[in-house]
Amino acid sequence: SPIHDFLKLLPKCEHHIHLEGALTPPVLFQLAQRNNITLPQDDDAFQSSEFLLQRYQRFTSLDDFLHYYYIGMSVLIHASDFEALAWDYFEHASADGVHHAEVFFDPQAHTSRGVDYRTVLEGFQAACKRATQELGITTELITCYLRHLPVPDCLETFHHEAVQESYKSGEIRGIGLDSSELDFPPHLFEELYTKAKGTGLRLTSHAGEEGPSHYISSALDDLQVERIDHGIKLAGDEALMKRVATQATMLTVCPMSNVVLRCVKEIKDVPIRAFLDAGVKFSINSDDPAYFGGYILDNYCAVHEAFDLSIDEWTTIARAGIEGSWCGQTRKDEMH
Ligand code: ADE
Ligand code: ZN
Repeated sequence: SPIHDFLKLLPKCEHHIHLEGALTPPVLFQLAQRNNITLPQDDDAFQSSEFLLQRYQRFTSLDDFLHYYYIGMSVLIHASDFEALAWDYFEHASADGVHHAEVFFDPQAHTSRGVDYRTVLEGFQAACKRATQELGITTELITCYLRHLPVPDCLETFHHEAVQESYKSGEIRGIGLDSSELDFPPHLFEELYTKAKGTGLRLTSHAGEEGPSHYISSALDDLQVERIDHGIKLAGDEALMKRVATQATMLTVCPMSNVVLRCVKEIKDVPIRAFLDAGVKFSINSDDPAYFGGYILDNYCAVHEAFDLSIDEWTTIARAGIEGSWCGQTRKDEMH
């Protein structure tokens, strides 16, 4: 359709994609076999790629999804596994019209299994380099900390020699905070964020996905983040919505993720219209495309289907995404 072609051609930036969330069931089984990883025997979902995909269509919550997400990534061992995973994502992103991608990964989810941080980074960096050279996609890497793990574990990872090296060299642009939200409020990670800010890193955090709107204000006040990942619970808090609009904090919204993880009933319930009306800046993203049934263009199309946005509104969204990116001004000017 003409609108699909328009949305595909619109210069898109993606700011909320977990590279581990790009692991499709076929690749998961292939790597499990190649790396001799035993998948859970007591869960029928792991009997085949088709069963697993069916199970993904019945997620009941963020935690239900995360259970499969952490098992899935256990098949990633070698730098070449991480490279292939990220490359698969960049190929999809390119086909969808992504010009710039700021991608998350979870160092602790790998180092805790005995996979070296350098191995993970080496693989992802190789894919990023290829994405720029062969697809013209510029990239930034963001390390996410797992909020369900003890705070000292996060601090230890932050201070790890190889991690510090990647921060100080500029190989990593910023940090984020992800995983199970409700029981792990933002303020617990204040020290981590203060230290990251002191290192010159950009700051974002998942907040207001399942958690209440005061997790969003806590991320802004206690963690001093400049972006909020998800942030859909902002819509129920008129005063906070005004603040976020005024200070031009960008939300990285993930509509299909919100439906699949039952944060909302349908795409129509994602507060896209409320954000546009309040002047809240946001980008539209895929989150974990291999788990939620669609890449970025599917998310754009789903939003269009639900809200019938005008060309002007789509242009506003695309511009906000470019402005909210953590690339240099020269690259922003190129994309505008
Ligand atoms: N890790 C991967 N995807 C996530 C999400 N949507 N929320 C929190 N943690 C995540
Ligand atoms: Zn996420």
